[in-house]
Amino acid sequence: MSKYILKSFLLLLFSIAYAEKPLYVVKNGKVDAATEKGFKVWRAAACGRCHGNNQQGLVGPSLIASLKDLTYDEFIIVLIKGRATNGMPGHPHLKQVDKVTGKRQVELLYSYLKGRSDGKVPKGRVRSFEK
Ligand code: HEC
Repeated sequence: MSKYILKSFLLLLFSIAYAEKPLYVVKNGKVDAATEKGFKVWRAAACGRCHGNNQQGLVGPSLIASLKDLTYDEFIIVLIKGRATNGMPGHPHLKQVDKVTGKRQVELLYSYLKGRSDGKVPKGRVRSFEK
């Protein structure tokens, strides 16, 4: 019996130590501070003029759909380098690190868009529950 308890305890410790931080958190329609930042990066870079204000697609493809297939690495590459011949401009400035979260802007963008694609992050202006 005590062996069983010890095992469960170790398993618990192990899962706490290795639990990954989620990409985004949504609570009562509000999001974590990093995801709100991601939304601000989206607005500042005006991605919506090609991909639609709610990522539904316009001249550029729907990012709701794209983010279901693109890997994280593919996303970073297409954002930074662009696909100039297909009309997607490169955004090298998104490599900049956000001072508050310590994350690159392109990572903040990924979390926000992944949350949108998963249908978890609401459309439009999102607000943080962390302040
Ligand atoms: C001038 C218009 C334009 C702007 C501005 C723009 N995009 Fe794009 N984007 C496109 C087009 C067109 C494509 C499709 C390229 C292709 O077919 O390979 C694309 C492709 C993409 C893809 C790859 C989709 C896939 O399924 O492979 C992602 C991700 C993306 N854009 C995100 C963004 C984000 C985020 C921003 C803002 C930082 C942005 N785009 C700004 C036009 C634009």
